[in-house]
Amino acid sequence: MNPSDTPASPLPSSRLDRRAMLRFAAAAAPVLAMPALARAQQNPGTPNFVPQVGQQGKDVIWVPTPDALVDRMLRMAQVGPNDQVVDLGSGDGKIVIAAARDFKARSLGVEFNPDMVALARRNAEKAGVQSLARFEQGDIFKFDYSFASVVTMYLLPGLNLKLRPTLLKMRPGTRLVTHQFTMGSWEPDDSSTVDGRPGYLWVVPAPVGGGWKLTTTDSRGTSEASVSFSQAFQQVTGTVRMGSLDGRLRSVRLSGDRLSFEWMDDKGVLRAYDGRVAGERIEGGCRAVDGTAGSFVAQRTGAATPVDGGRE
Ligand SMILES: C[S@@+](CC[C@H](N)C(=O)[O-])C[C@H]1O[C@@H](n2cnc3c(N)ncnc32)[C@H](O)[C@@H]1O
Repeated sequence: MNPSDTPASPLPSSRLDRRAMLRFAAAAAPVLAMPALARAQQNPGTPNFVPQVGQQGKDVIWVPTPDALVDRMLRMAQVGPNDQVVDLGSGDGKIVIAAARDFKARSLGVEFNPDMVALARRNAEKAGVQSLARFEQGDIFKFDYSFASVVTMYLLPGLNLKLRPTLLKMRPGTRLVTHQFTMGSWEPDDSSTVDGRPGYLWVVPAPVGGGWKLTTTDSRGTSEASVSFSQAFQQVTGTVRMGSLDGRLRSVRLSGDRLSFEWMDDKGVLRAYDGRVAGERIEGGCRAVDGTAGSFVAQRTGAATPVDGGRE
């Protein structure tokens, strides 16, 4: 049985979901064909609970991510000892346990099925990582995981989309990794395929869309300009006005809270800016083509536009 040929939500919300459900259902067929008594043994509270690939879950059935892809997903997210990893729908706990065992990260699995929670706790104990790897019974749509620095998911496209607004509100720089399914129009920052199974990475972008007052200081003095960014996730473009000059920002790049761009000012001096976004302020350094180094501060002048740029 091929686990990635499976996932299924009882209530698929898109055509992609329906296709995924059919694949999940194919893998789950032997389980669903089991006699009622055998299936009942998987019910919460069963003392000798044995999980079955394809067993029913609240919003999606259980299919484990293969070890090699678990490793690749955690590497794509550059998980380390300073991270707090949360797996949404943690199943038997393998992603959470790998994050603790192989990357020394504190990790937490949120799983609706209490039998799977108990199983994951036993697995963490067997792996000797119970001090780093924890599991809680809960619903991923109600649980507060805003403290996480890395979120992992093997769900369904519709569920990823439902979680997306919450994920986009997480701290800029938070890494999200999924097995198999994407995030609608939010392009991934990285992807890998291991043995035919895709994994995707996104870095939560800081909200930068809207107007800013840009103050640049270097040995030439201090200058002010108005900057406006248009944002759709990590894709950002910008325009700038200085006196009677209207221009465009070049090479705008946003990764988490790190924003860089270039701009040719009213004197024809091309400067490269590189800073960090902290709420209503961006601060950083700038360097002119002739090597003159300086600093800059940008302060918001109006409301922030939605990070998703209004995209589906
Ligand atoms: C496809 S499995 C992935 C398991 C694990 N993350 C992995 O990659 O190996 C999805 C898991 O999500 C759980 N689940 C489904 N809906 C859930 C919900 N609303 N809240 C918490 N867990 C849920 C299922 O019970 C199942 O264990």
